[in-house]
Amino acid sequence: MSNRLDLAAVLTAVSCSRAFAKLTLDTWGASSIVDDALIVVSELVTNAIKATGVTTPRPKWTELDELKCVTVRLVGLDECVVVEVWDVDSHLPEESEAGIDAESGRGLWLVAELAGKWGSYPVANGKVVWAELSLRPTSSQPPAPPLTKRRRKPVPEPRVPIFIQRDP
Ligand SMILES: Nc1ncnc2c1ncn2[C@@H]1O[C@H](COP(=O)(O)OP(=O)(O)OP(=O)(O)O)[C@@H](O)[C@H]1O
Ligand SMILES: [Mg+2]
Repeated sequence: MSNRLDLAAVLTAVSCSRAFAKLTLDTWGASSIVDDALIVVSELVTNAIKATGVTTPRPKWTELDELKCVTVRLVGLDECVVVEVWDVDSHLPEESEAGIDAESGRGLWLVAELAGKWGSYPVANGKVVWAELSLRPTSSQPPAPPLTKRRRKPVPEPRVPIFIQRDP
């Protein structure tokens, strides 16, 4: 099964694509991956807007003359959900190494951490960047054992008698 949404390449496309992804995944019964999927969708759509769209928060009509589209597509498979984002820029992205002080350059790193696999491929009119989110917990990460419960210690008697002053 799959579901797609075409959006104008403006910043509000990010929140629209998140709402679309949540609705789709909840409908498919894949709510367990919604948190990760929303981060991946946000990062990929933000990148697509930065590469091809208008990034001013309240653009003027004149800025929207040559407005491009981006497309978000979710593909539901037996063991995973693939997030695909299409944009009209043919340049294929690469994960960059962000310096310790860098304020950007970590989006694709985050996608790589959350998704089992990610990549991109050229299409006739631009490219698709995709990321695959597993529906099964990975065997290398067993669930954490429950925390041991601390036993309550008895409260010791005061070492000196407590003097209670009565208010005259
Ligand atoms: N859809 C895209 N089209 C063209 N270039 C892209 C695309 N996505 C990413 N890139 C390129 O890859 C680089 C790394 O992307 P990444 O998302 O990791 O960092 P960023 O967008 O620069 O910063 P951040 O996501 O941390 O705000 C980008 O700076 C951009 O040059
Ligand atoms: Mg980014």
